[in-house]
Amino acid sequence: MTSFPDSQFPGPTWLVGCGNMAGAMVTGWRAAGIDLVAVTAIRPSGAAVEGVRTVSALPDGPPPALVMLGFKPQKLDEVAPGLAPRLGADTIVISLLAGVEAATLRQRFPTARACVRAMPNLPVAQRKGVIALYSEDDDPAALTLVQALMAALGFAPIVDDEAHFSAIGAVAGSGPAYVARFVDALISGGEGLGLAPDLAARIALDTLTGTAAMAVATNLPMAELARHVASPKGTTEAGLAVLDASDGINQLIGRMLAASIARGKELADAARQG
Ligand SMILES: NC(=O)c1ccc[n+]([C@@H]2O[C@H](COP(=O)([O-])OP(=O)(O)OC[C@H]3O[C@@H](n4cnc5c(N)ncnc54)[C@H](OP(=O)(O)O)[C@@H]3O)[C@@H](O)[C@H]2O)c1
Repeated sequence: MTSFPDSQFPGPTWLVGCGNMAGAMVTGWRAAGIDLVAVTAIRPSGAAVEGVRTVSALPDGPPPALVMLGFKPQKLDEVAPGLAPRLGADTIVISLLAGVEAATLRQRFPTARACVRAMPNLPVAQRKGVIALYSEDDDPAALTLVQALMAALGFAPIVDDEAHFSAIGAVAGSGPAYVARFVDALISGGEGLGLAPDLAARIALDTLTGTAAMAVATNLPMAELARHVASPKGTTEAGLAVLDASDGINQLIGRMLAASIARGKELADAARQG
């Protein structure tokens, strides 16, 4: 069972925007056995979110105890003016919005008790997520509550530097997409060597999950794990030499992360100016 207090959300909780990411979190909370009776998902389409009451506009009633912003960062200008007056002095705001800084949230939701940035990744649905947390409000109790809620979905570290929060977003928030691309390249490579597509896909995925299981079980540093596979002057070492070249994987990943961080800065600028 989870460490979330009473395995229950504070009521009312509003999930404002509940698409891929917030929906994956709901799936994870349900799998953790958390009671979602106090939770309402708000999405313009009104499309059902399994396990929670879903409506197409902000509900009437008292201010929410907890609000999670799960829409796209570009929608902040559209959503904030209607949402801000509905928040009370006890409302905790959790924002999933990539790039939107804590200071911007505070400016958009000045009456809220606390604003907490959360940067999850999609394996939250399997409760194997990484969810970074960051707040500039001096409210340890609010941050502890949010961390308990997120810990039901995976590893939920609190960071004290917003630049580190962005770095975790680039590595882990976007990470499943990058890992998926790498595995896709392995699959294509296998096909290029003559393997049937289904077989290439299966062996690449099993290699991914097998390597992850081995890494977790042995706790070996990655370089050592690679050394265990590669015998001197063998076939793996020949392949690693390509990845390890000066224009190889480290350079590629450095450029990939830099592009992600730069886009986050653009989103932050746009949200600040809104
Ligand atoms: N996807 C990821 O891996 C990931 C990782 C980290 C952070 N995030 C962050 O999570 C947020 C959501 O991303 P996503 O991938 O889940 O996007 P998404 O699947 O497009 O979901 C967006 C949600 O926002 C709703 N929405 C649109 N306009 C709205 C409005 N005016 N008021 C209230 N809700 C509105 C949509 O409603 P309908 O369902 O009715 O269309 C939908 O439920 C983004 O801010 C993103 O930066 C995503």
